[in-house]
Amino acid sequence: MRDGYGVVRLAAMSDVHCGKESAGALQATFAQAAQAADVLVLAGDLTDYGTAEEARLLAKELAVVNRMPVVAVLGNHDYESGAEQEICSILSDAGVRVLDGDSVELNGVGFAGVKGFAGGFGRGALGPWGEPIIKQFVHEAVNESLKLETALARLRSPSRIALLHYSPVRETVEGEPPEIFPYLGCSRLEEPLSRYSVFAVIHGHAHNGTPEGKTARGVPVYNVAMPLLRKRYPGGALLRLSENPLNLPDRRGGDDGPPPSPVPEPVETTVGR
Ligand SMILES: [Fe+2]
Ligand SMILES: [Fe+2]
Repeated sequence: MRDGYGVVRLAAMSDVHCGKESAGALQATFAQAAQAADVLVLAGDLTDYGTAEEARLLAKELAVVNRMPVVAVLGNHDYESGAEQEICSILSDAGVRVLDGDSVELNGVGFAGVKGFAGGFGRGALGPWGEPIIKQFVHEAVNESLKLETALARLRSPSRIALLHYSPVRETVEGEPPEIFPYLGCSRLEEPLSRYSVFAVIHGHAHNGTPEGKTARGVPVYNVAMPLLRKRYPGGALLRLSENPLNLPDRRGGDDGPPPSPVPEPVETTVGR
């Protein structure tokens, strides 16, 4: 991306689900990111059970990136133990900029970040009608969408990236069982992306989704869930974005690349991806 700062290279990944077994396993991947990119982007499910202990472990793993800026949003797993505030503060102390309805400019690139929420896509999106609990559920998705809009509105950089955990489009969750699509994202999150100029959207959560899609207005959407990238691009857990056109996921470990990094196998759950 060029905007007077030269080329800014982003390495993006999601759903690292850092847990007890991850000690030492993520360092090589983060070190590769630090070598190949200027900014590391983490799209949620940073921890497996959302504990402070896991966040401390992740902070330790991230130490290898040294001074490279790291920007992140939390995912649903990071809320599992009710320790999301502590996770934010542990990661912030480690130098990670954790976004939740706010924005940051790093190396000239503006990032607007929210976790997002579920609710479904297009005509199948859940509407705020009937029981109060349904209205409350839909309200949460609307609220996340408004937070994203506010974050985008604050950015002055012409190169804007929207960072979410849940998907704003159906296309990048395809590959998952259709029955769970409504739990993987929500079209309401796409609305602010139509109102503000956005260079690209990065999300995770759909471990078995599709790596690339587009919003209705043609903005590229990247699902960088680590389990998905590992399946689709053997040996690679990174997505690099650079000058136009956007680079494809970095196929590390191919004929010319370094060997694959050891990465932990995330614990799959039935719904709590
Ligand atoms: Fe998730
Ligand atoms: Fe996940």
